[in-house]
Amino acid sequence: MHTKHYSRTIFTISIAAYLVLDHVGLTKAASEVSNYDFWPSNILGKRAMQLVRDHLSRRQERKKSRSSKQICYDMVGCFPIPRSSYSPLMKSPQSPDTVDTKFLVMTRQNRSDLILIKYGDRHVSMANSNFKPELPTKIIIHGFKGSGHDKVAKLLGNALLDLEDANVIFVDWEKGAAGPGYALAAANTQLIGRQLAILITDMVALNGDPARIHMIGFSLGAHVAGFAGKALKLLDIRVGRITGLDPASPLFRQMLSASLLSLSADDAAFVDVVHTDGARIWSEGFGLFNPIGDVDYFPNGGLDQPGCEQVRGSVIVSRFEGTMNSSVVCNHLRALQFFLESLKAVSDPDACQFTAFPCHTGWSMFQRGECFPTNCTDSNCVTMGFAASQSKLRGPLYLTTRDSSPFCGKGCYSLISY
Ligand SMILES: *[C@@H]1O[C@H](CO)[C@@H](O)[C@H](O)[C@H]1NC(C)=O
Ligand SMILES: *[C@@H]1O[C@H](CO)[C@@H](O)[C@H](O)[C@H]1NC(C)=O
Ligand SMILES: *[C@@H]1O[C@H](CO)[C@@H](O)[C@H](O)[C@H]1NC(C)=O
Repeated sequence: MHTKHYSRTIFTISIAAYLVLDHVGLTKAASEVSNYDFWPSNILGKRAMQLVRDHLSRRQERKKSRSSKQICYDMVGCFPIPRSSYSPLMKSPQSPDTVDTKFLVMTRQNRSDLILIKYGDRHVSMANSNFKPELPTKIIIHGFKGSGHDKVAKLLGNALLDLEDANVIFVDWEKGAAGPGYALAAANTQLIGRQLAILITDMVALNGDPARIHMIGFSLGAHVAGFAGKALKLLDIRVGRITGLDPASPLFRQMLSASLLSLSADDAAFVDVVHTDGARIWSEGFGLFNPIGDVDYFPNGGLDQPGCEQVRGSVIVSRFEGTMNSSVVCNHLRALQFFLESLKAVSDPDACQFTAFPCHTGWSMFQRGECFPTNCTDSNCVTMGFAASQSKLRGPLYLTTRDSSPFCGKGCYSLISY
Protein backbone atom coordinates (compact mmCIF):
# COMPACT_ATOMS: atom_id res chain seq x y z
CA MET A 1 0.00 0.00 0.00
CA HIS A 2 2.53 2.56 1.08
CA THR A 3 5.65 3.22 -0.83
CA LYS A 4 8.02 2.82 2.03
CA HIS A 5 11.17 4.74 1.55
CA TYR A 6 14.00 4.62 3.93
CA SER A 7 12.81 7.80 5.60
CA ARG A 8 9.51 6.12 6.26
CA THR A 9 11.30 3.13 7.76
CA ILE A 10 13.26 5.39 10.04
CA PHE A 11 10.05 6.99 11.12
CA THR A 12 8.56 3.68 12.21
CA ILE A 13 11.68 2.76 14.10
CA SER A 14 11.69 6.05 15.95
CA ILE A 15 8.16 5.39 17.04
CA ALA A 16 9.37 2.17 18.59
CA ALA A 17 11.93 4.17 20.53
CA TYR A 18 9.17 6.40 21.77
CA LEU A 19 7.26 3.35 22.80
CA VAL A 20 9.77 2.26 25.38
CA LEU A 21 9.57 5.61 27.06
CA ASP A 22 5.90 6.31 26.92
CA HIS A 23 3.23 3.78 27.68
CA VAL A 24 0.38 6.16 26.93
CA GLY A 25 1.13 6.17 23.25
CA LEU A 26 1.68 2.44 23.19
CA THR A 27 -1.30 1.16 21.27
CA LYS A 28 -1.11 3.79 18.61
CA ALA A 29 2.60 3.39 18.27
CA ALA A 30 2.45 -0.38 18.08
CA SER A 31 0.15 -0.16 15.13
CA GLU A 32 2.84 1.74 13.30
CA VAL A 33 5.76 -0.43 14.20
CA SER A 34 6.79 -2.74 11.45
CA ASN A 35 10.45 -2.96 12.18
CA TYR A 36 10.39 -4.50 15.61
CA ASP A 37 12.71 -7.30 14.66
CA PHE A 38 15.41 -4.77 14.05
CA TRP A 39 15.36 -4.09 17.74
CA PRO A 40 17.75 -6.20 19.74
CA SER A 41 15.76 -7.43 22.73
CA ASN A 42 18.50 -6.38 25.13
CA ILE A 43 17.72 -2.77 24.28
CA LEU A 44 13.98 -2.80 24.03
CA GLY A 45 12.34 -3.89 27.27
CA LYS A 46 11.05 -7.47 27.24
CA ARG A 47 7.52 -6.44 28.09
CA ALA A 48 7.38 -3.81 25.39
CA MET A 49 8.78 -6.31 22.90
CA GLN A 50 6.06 -8.81 23.77
CA LEU A 51 3.33 -6.21 23.35
CA VAL A 52 4.62 -5.24 19.97
CA ARG A 53 5.04 -8.87 18.91
CA ASP A 54 1.49 -9.78 19.92
CA HIS A 55 0.08 -6.86 18.10
CA LEU A 56 2.07 -7.53 15.00
CA SER A 57 1.28 -11.21 14.81
CA ARG A 58 -2.40 -10.26 14.77
CA ARG A 59 -1.77 -7.89 11.93
CA GLN A 60 0.41 -10.23 9.97
CA GLU A 61 -2.35 -12.03 8.09
CA ARG A 62 -4.04 -8.82 7.08
CA LYS A 63 -0.73 -7.45 5.93
CA LYS A 64 0.15 -10.48 3.87
CA SER A 65 -2.89 -10.07 1.71
CA ARG A 66 -1.84 -6.56 0.75
CA SER A 67 0.70 -5.99 -1.93
CA SER A 68 3.74 -5.03 0.07
CA LYS A 69 6.25 -2.51 -1.14
CA GLN A 70 8.91 -3.63 1.24
CA ILE A 71 10.93 -6.67 1.99
CA CYS A 72 11.51 -7.77 5.57
CA TYR A 73 14.13 -10.00 7.13
CA ASP A 74 14.61 -11.37 10.64
CA MET A 75 16.43 -9.08 13.06
CA VAL A 76 17.27 -6.35 10.57
CA GLY A 77 13.73 -5.34 9.69
CA CYS A 78 12.26 -4.05 6.46
CA PHE A 79 13.66 -2.36 3.39
CA PRO A 80 11.85 -0.59 0.59
CA ILE A 81 11.30 -2.31 -2.71
CA PRO A 82 11.89 0.51 -5.17
CA ARG A 83 9.27 1.13 -7.79
CA SER A 84 10.78 0.49 -11.16
CA SER A 85 9.46 3.81 -12.40
CA TYR A 86 11.99 5.59 -10.17
CA SER A 87 15.09 4.01 -11.51
CA PRO A 88 15.64 0.59 -13.02
CA LEU A 89 18.91 0.51 -11.15
CA MET A 90 17.47 0.64 -7.67
CA LYS A 91 17.32 -2.71 -5.90
CA SER A 92 16.42 -4.11 -2.51
CA PRO A 93 19.01 -5.73 -0.28
CA GLN A 94 19.48 -9.47 -0.57
CA SER A 95 18.60 -11.70 2.36
CA PRO A 96 21.03 -11.99 5.29
CA ASP A 97 21.39 -15.71 4.47
CA THR A 98 22.49 -14.95 0.93
CA VAL A 99 24.87 -12.18 1.90
CA ASP A 100 26.28 -14.17 4.82
CA THR A 101 28.02 -11.19 6.41
CA LYS A 102 30.89 -12.11 8.68
CA PHE A 103 32.41 -10.06 11.46
CA LEU A 104 35.96 -11.00 12.35
CA VAL A 105 37.88 -9.74 15.37
CA MET A 106 41.62 -9.22 15.33
CA THR A 107 43.51 -8.15 18.45
CA ARG A 108 47.10 -7.84 19.58
CA GLN A 109 46.59 -11.10 21.47
CA ASN A 110 46.95 -13.04 18.22
CA ARG A 111 46.93 -11.19 14.93
CA SER A 112 46.76 -14.29 12.78
CA ASP A 113 43.78 -15.72 14.59
CA LEU A 114 40.67 -13.91 13.38
CA ILE A 115 37.70 -14.81 15.52
CA LEU A 116 34.20 -14.88 14.07
CA ILE A 117 31.59 -13.00 16.07
CA LYS A 118 27.87 -12.92 15.41
CA TYR A 119 25.27 -10.25 15.90
CA GLY A 120 22.03 -10.94 17.68
CA ASP A 121 23.27 -13.90 19.72
CA ARG A 122 22.94 -11.86 22.92
CA HIS A 123 26.64 -11.08 22.65
CA VAL A 124 27.68 -14.67 23.44
CA SER A 125 30.15 -15.00 20.56
CA MET A 126 31.55 -11.55 21.25
CA ALA A 127 32.05 -12.29 24.95
CA ASN A 128 33.80 -15.55 24.02
CA SER A 129 36.14 -13.90 21.52
CA ASN A 130 39.24 -11.79 22.09
CA PHE A 131 37.05 -8.68 22.01
CA LYS A 132 37.76 -6.42 24.97
CA PRO A 133 35.03 -3.87 25.67
CA GLU A 134 37.40 -1.56 27.53
CA LEU A 135 39.54 -1.03 24.42
CA PRO A 136 38.80 1.26 21.47
CA THR A 137 37.28 -0.52 18.48
CA LYS A 138 38.20 0.00 14.82
CA ILE A 139 35.79 -1.35 12.26
CA ILE A 140 37.09 -1.82 8.71
CA ILE A 141 34.52 -2.06 5.92
CA HIS A 142 35.40 -2.91 2.33
CA GLY A 143 33.62 -1.74 -0.80
CA PHE A 144 32.31 -3.09 -4.10
CA LYS A 145 33.85 -6.43 -5.09
CA GLY A 146 35.96 -6.37 -1.93
CA SER A 147 36.39 -8.86 0.87
CA GLY A 148 37.16 -8.72 4.58
CA HIS A 149 40.22 -10.81 3.74
CA ASP A 150 41.64 -8.31 1.24
CA LYS A 151 45.33 -7.71 1.70
CA VAL A 152 44.80 -4.00 2.12
CA ALA A 153 42.20 -4.59 4.86
CA LYS A 154 44.77 -6.65 6.76
CA LEU A 155 47.41 -3.97 6.22
CA LEU A 156 45.05 -1.40 7.64
CA GLY A 157 44.12 -3.58 10.63
CA ASN A 158 47.74 -4.30 11.45
CA ALA A 159 48.75 -0.65 11.11
CA LEU A 160 45.96 0.32 13.52
CA LEU A 161 47.08 -2.32 16.03
CA ASP A 162 50.67 -1.10 15.72
CA LEU A 163 49.43 2.30 16.87
CA GLU A 164 47.25 1.27 19.76
CA ASP A 165 45.82 -1.67 21.58
CA ALA A 166 42.37 -2.02 20.10
CA ASN A 167 39.74 -4.41 18.81
CA VAL A 168 39.91 -4.46 15.04
CA ILE A 169 36.77 -5.79 13.41
CA PHE A 170 36.67 -6.68 9.73
CA VAL A 171 33.23 -6.52 8.20
CA ASP A 172 33.29 -9.17 5.50
CA TRP A 173 30.31 -8.80 3.19
CA GLU A 174 32.05 -10.32 0.21
CA LYS A 175 28.98 -12.11 -1.17
CA GLY A 176 26.88 -8.97 -0.87
CA ALA A 177 29.55 -6.82 -2.48
CA ALA A 178 30.22 -9.20 -5.36
CA GLY A 179 27.32 -8.03 -7.46
CA PRO A 180 26.89 -9.24 -10.23
CA GLY A 181 25.84 -5.63 -10.61
CA TYR A 182 26.89 -2.56 -8.68
CA ALA A 183 23.25 -1.67 -7.93
CA LEU A 184 22.72 -4.83 -5.90
CA ALA A 185 25.88 -4.24 -3.88
CA ALA A 186 24.81 -0.63 -3.29
CA ALA A 187 21.39 -1.79 -2.05
CA ASN A 188 23.07 -4.28 0.26
CA THR A 189 24.88 -1.49 2.12
CA GLN A 190 21.57 -0.81 3.89
CA LEU A 191 21.43 -4.38 5.17
CA ILE A 192 25.09 -4.57 6.21
CA GLY A 193 24.73 -1.22 7.99
CA ARG A 194 21.88 -2.54 10.14
CA GLN A 195 23.71 -5.79 10.86
CA LEU A 196 26.70 -3.78 11.98
CA ALA A 197 24.44 -1.58 14.09
CA ILE A 198 23.15 -4.63 15.95
CA LEU A 199 26.71 -5.85 16.47
CA ILE A 200 27.55 -2.46 17.97
CA THR A 201 24.59 -2.66 20.35
CA ASP A 202 26.14 -5.93 21.55
CA MET A 203 29.39 -4.07 22.22
CA VAL A 204 27.50 -1.44 24.15
CA ALA A 205 25.67 -4.13 26.10
CA LEU A 206 29.09 -5.45 27.16
CA ASN A 207 29.90 -1.90 28.41
CA GLY A 208 31.87 -0.89 25.33
CA ASP A 209 32.00 2.89 24.90
CA PRO A 210 30.44 3.87 21.55
CA ALA A 211 32.48 7.09 21.57
CA ARG A 212 35.59 4.94 21.18
CA ILE A 213 34.26 3.16 18.10
CA HIS A 214 35.78 4.25 14.80
CA MET A 215 34.36 2.89 11.56
CA ILE A 216 36.58 3.13 8.50
CA GLY A 217 34.76 2.46 5.25
CA PHE A 218 36.11 2.45 1.74
CA SER A 219 33.85 3.24 -1.22
CA LEU A 220 30.52 1.48 -0.59
CA GLY A 221 31.88 0.56 2.84
CA ALA A 222 31.65 4.25 3.80
CA HIS A 223 27.90 4.07 3.23
CA VAL A 224 27.67 0.85 5.25
CA ALA A 225 29.18 2.85 8.13
CA GLY A 226 26.66 5.62 7.41
CA PHE A 227 23.69 3.25 7.55
CA ALA A 228 25.02 1.74 10.79
CA GLY A 229 25.32 5.24 12.26
CA LYS A 230 21.78 6.16 11.15
CA ALA A 231 20.32 2.99 12.70
CA LEU A 232 22.23 3.49 15.96
CA LYS A 233 21.08 7.08 16.23
CA LEU A 234 17.54 5.78 16.62
CA LEU A 235 18.74 3.86 19.65
CA ASP A 236 20.46 6.97 21.02
CA ILE A 237 23.86 5.45 20.38
CA ARG A 238 26.39 7.73 18.77
CA VAL A 239 29.56 6.25 17.44
CA GLY A 240 32.71 8.33 17.93
CA ARG A 241 33.95 8.53 14.39
CA ILE A 242 33.39 7.46 10.81
CA THR A 243 36.11 7.87 8.21
CA GLY A 244 34.76 7.67 4.68
CA LEU A 245 37.46 6.85 2.16
CA ASP A 246 36.16 8.05 -1.20
CA PRO A 247 32.51 7.16 -0.55
CA ALA A 248 30.97 5.71 -3.70
CA SER A 249 28.80 8.07 -5.71
CA PRO A 250 26.65 6.03 -8.13
CA LEU A 251 23.11 5.74 -6.69
CA PHE A 252 24.08 7.83 -3.65
CA ARG A 253 24.03 11.22 -5.32
CA GLN A 254 21.12 13.26 -4.11
CA MET A 255 20.16 14.46 -7.56
CA LEU A 256 18.74 11.06 -8.44
CA SER A 257 15.12 10.78 -7.40
CA ALA A 258 15.52 7.36 -5.82
CA SER A 259 19.01 7.72 -4.48
CA LEU A 260 20.17 5.88 -1.41
CA LEU A 261 21.08 7.94 1.65
CA SER A 262 24.77 8.63 1.63
CA LEU A 263 27.09 8.81 4.60
CA SER A 264 26.51 12.14 6.34
CA ALA A 265 27.89 14.28 9.15
CA ASP A 266 25.02 13.17 11.41
CA ASP A 267 26.03 9.52 11.36
CA ALA A 268 28.75 9.82 14.04
CA ALA A 269 30.14 12.40 16.45
CA PHE A 270 32.90 13.08 13.94
CA VAL A 271 32.79 12.22 10.25
CA ASP A 272 35.87 12.79 8.10
CA VAL A 273 35.81 12.08 4.40
CA VAL A 274 38.60 11.83 1.86
CA HIS A 275 37.59 12.49 -1.75
CA THR A 276 39.97 11.22 -4.40
CA ASP A 277 37.78 10.31 -7.37
CA GLY A 278 34.98 12.81 -7.12
CA ALA A 279 32.41 13.00 -9.86
CA ARG A 280 30.44 16.09 -10.70
CA ILE A 281 28.52 14.18 -13.33
CA TRP A 282 27.37 10.61 -13.73
CA SER A 283 30.28 9.32 -15.78
CA GLU A 284 33.24 10.99 -14.17
CA GLY A 285 34.30 8.87 -11.24
CA PHE A 286 33.42 6.50 -8.44
CA GLY A 287 33.47 9.02 -5.61
CA LEU A 288 31.26 11.83 -4.38
CA PHE A 289 32.36 15.37 -5.06
CA ASN A 290 30.07 17.22 -2.69
CA PRO A 291 31.14 17.62 0.96
CA ILE A 292 29.15 15.28 3.23
CA GLY A 293 31.12 15.03 6.48
CA ASP A 294 32.24 17.32 9.29
CA VAL A 295 35.49 17.67 7.39
CA ASP A 296 35.99 16.79 3.75
CA TYR A 297 39.47 16.50 2.33
CA PHE A 298 40.03 17.12 -1.36
CA PRO A 299 43.58 16.00 -2.11
CA ASN A 300 44.67 17.45 -5.44
CA GLY A 301 41.20 18.90 -5.83
CA GLY A 302 39.42 15.60 -5.20
CA LEU A 303 38.65 14.75 -8.82
CA ASP A 304 41.78 13.17 -10.24
CA GLN A 305 45.00 12.10 -8.62
CA PRO A 306 48.45 12.72 -10.06
CA GLY A 307 50.08 9.52 -11.24
CA CYS A 308 46.78 7.95 -12.24
CA GLU A 309 46.05 7.39 -15.89
CA GLN A 310 42.86 9.38 -16.38
CA VAL A 311 40.07 7.31 -17.86
CA ARG A 312 36.96 9.30 -18.60
CA GLY A 313 33.88 9.28 -20.70
CA SER A 314 32.43 5.82 -20.25
CA VAL A 315 29.28 5.41 -18.23
CA ILE A 316 30.23 4.67 -14.67
CA VAL A 317 27.97 1.70 -14.16
CA SER A 318 29.22 -0.12 -17.20
CA ARG A 319 32.70 0.48 -15.89
CA PHE A 320 31.66 -1.07 -12.62
CA GLU A 321 30.23 -4.11 -14.34
CA GLY A 322 33.40 -4.85 -16.22
CA THR A 323 36.70 -5.87 -14.80
CA MET A 324 38.14 -2.99 -12.90
CA ASN A 325 41.69 -2.64 -14.06
CA SER A 326 44.04 -0.65 -11.93
CA SER A 327 44.01 2.45 -14.08
CA VAL A 328 40.24 2.70 -13.77
CA VAL A 329 40.23 2.52 -9.98
CA CYS A 330 43.54 4.28 -9.41
CA ASN A 331 41.98 7.58 -8.25
CA HIS A 332 39.48 5.76 -6.04
CA LEU A 333 42.13 3.63 -4.32
CA ARG A 334 44.24 6.62 -3.44
CA ALA A 335 41.97 7.51 -0.51
CA LEU A 336 42.84 4.18 1.06
CA GLN A 337 46.53 4.59 0.35
CA PHE A 338 46.58 8.09 1.87
CA PHE A 339 44.91 6.81 5.02
CA LEU A 340 47.37 3.93 5.37
CA GLU A 341 50.25 6.31 4.95
CA SER A 342 48.79 8.70 7.52
CA LEU A 343 48.85 5.90 10.10
CA LYS A 344 52.60 5.54 9.77
CA ALA A 345 53.03 9.28 10.34
CA VAL A 346 51.17 9.22 13.66
CA SER A 347 53.88 7.43 15.60
CA ASP A 348 56.71 9.37 13.94
CA PRO A 349 56.79 13.09 14.79
CA ASP A 350 59.38 13.69 12.07
CA ALA A 351 57.26 12.04 9.39
CA CYS A 352 55.64 14.05 6.66
CA GLN A 353 52.07 15.06 7.48
CA PHE A 354 49.24 15.45 4.97
CA THR A 355 48.58 19.05 5.88
CA ALA A 356 45.36 20.48 4.46
CA PHE A 357 43.96 24.02 4.42
CA PRO A 358 40.58 25.60 3.94
CA CYS A 359 40.08 27.59 0.75
CA HIS A 360 36.74 29.34 0.44
CA THR A 361 37.26 30.02 -3.19
CA GLY A 362 37.81 26.35 -3.99
CA TRP A 363 40.45 24.22 -5.59
CA SER A 364 41.32 26.41 -8.55
CA MET A 365 42.22 29.28 -6.23
CA PHE A 366 44.06 26.89 -3.97
CA GLN A 367 46.09 25.75 -6.96
CA ARG A 368 46.99 29.34 -7.71
CA GLY A 369 48.32 29.70 -4.21
CA GLU A 370 45.55 32.05 -3.06
CA CYS A 371 44.85 30.02 0.05
CA PHE A 372 48.30 28.91 0.90
CA PRO A 373 48.76 29.76 4.56
CA THR A 374 51.83 31.72 5.38
CA ASN A 375 51.60 30.36 8.87
CA CYS A 376 50.32 26.95 9.72
CA THR A 377 48.51 26.98 13.05
CA ASP A 378 45.97 24.64 14.59
CA SER A 379 43.19 26.86 13.36
CA ASN A 380 44.14 27.00 9.69
CA CYS A 381 45.88 23.70 8.99
CA VAL A 382 44.71 20.16 9.60
CA THR A 383 46.23 16.78 9.04
CA MET A 384 44.35 14.47 6.71
CA GLY A 385 43.96 10.86 7.74
CA PHE A 386 44.10 9.20 11.12
CA ALA A 387 45.02 12.37 13.05
CA ALA A 388 42.13 14.37 11.53
CA SER A 389 40.00 14.02 14.66
CA GLN A 390 42.44 16.14 16.68
CA SER A 391 41.49 19.34 14.88
CA LYS A 392 38.51 21.59 15.42
CA LEU A 393 38.56 22.88 11.86
CA ARG A 394 35.48 21.93 9.82
CA GLY A 395 34.38 22.09 6.20
CA PRO A 396 36.14 21.38 2.90
CA LEU A 397 39.93 21.29 3.02
CA TYR A 398 42.49 21.09 0.25
CA LEU A 399 45.98 19.73 -0.15
CA THR A 400 48.39 18.46 -2.75
CA THR A 401 50.22 15.16 -2.73
CA ARG A 402 53.01 13.48 -4.62
CA ASP A 403 52.13 11.22 -7.53
CA SER A 404 53.48 7.99 -6.04
CA SER A 405 54.20 6.45 -2.67
CA PRO A 406 55.20 8.06 -0.35
CA PHE A 407 52.39 10.39 -1.36
CA CYS A 408 53.04 12.85 1.39
CA GLY A 409 56.02 15.05 0.72
CA LYS A 410 57.45 18.15 2.30
CA GLY A 411 58.11 19.26 -1.26
CA CYS A 412 54.39 19.43 -1.91
CA TYR A 413 54.44 23.05 -0.83
CA SER A 414 56.41 24.00 -3.91
CA LEU A 415 53.86 22.34 -6.17
CA ILE A 416 51.33 25.07 -5.52
CA SER A 417 53.55 28.11 -5.36
CA TYR A 418 53.83 28.79 -9.04
C1 LIG B 1 47.50 -17.72 17.01
O1 LIG B 1 46.41 -18.35 16.35
C2 LIG B 1 46.81 -19.31 15.40
C3 LIG B 1 45.58 -19.79 14.67
O2 LIG B 1 44.57 -20.14 15.56
C4 LIG B 1 47.55 -20.45 16.13
O3 LIG B 1 47.98 -21.42 15.20
C5 LIG B 1 48.75 -19.87 16.87
O4 LIG B 1 49.36 -20.86 17.64
C6 LIG B 1 48.33 -18.73 17.77
N1 LIG B 1 49.50 -18.09 18.32
C7 LIG B 1 49.61 -17.75 19.59
C8 LIG B 1 50.88 -17.06 19.98
O5 LIG B 1 48.75 -17.99 20.41
C1 LIG C 1 42.42 -0.29 -18.40
O1 LIG C 1 41.23 0.26 -18.93
C2 LIG C 1 41.43 1.40 -19.74
C3 LIG C 1 40.08 1.90 -20.15
O2 LIG C 1 39.24 0.88 -20.54
C4 LIG C 1 42.30 1.02 -20.95
O3 LIG C 1 42.53 2.16 -21.74
C5 LIG C 1 43.61 0.45 -20.46
O4 LIG C 1 44.38 0.02 -21.54
C6 LIG C 1 43.36 -0.71 -19.51
N1 LIG C 1 44.63 -1.14 -18.94
C7 LIG C 1 44.95 -2.42 -18.83
C8 LIG C 1 46.28 -2.71 -18.22
O5 LIG C 1 44.21 -3.32 -19.18
C1 LIG D 1 53.69 33.44 11.93
O1 LIG D 1 53.26 33.41 13.26
C2 LIG D 1 54.24 33.84 14.20
C3 LIG D 1 53.68 33.62 15.58
O2 LIG D 1 52.32 33.92 15.64
C4 LIG D 1 54.60 35.29 13.91
O3 LIG D 1 55.61 35.73 14.80
C5 LIG D 1 55.11 35.41 12.48
O4 LIG D 1 55.35 36.76 12.15
C6 LIG D 1 54.08 34.81 11.50
N1 LIG D 1 54.65 34.79 10.16
C7 LIG D 1 53.98 35.22 9.10
C8 LIG D 1 54.72 35.14 7.81
O5 LIG D 1 52.84 35.62 9.14
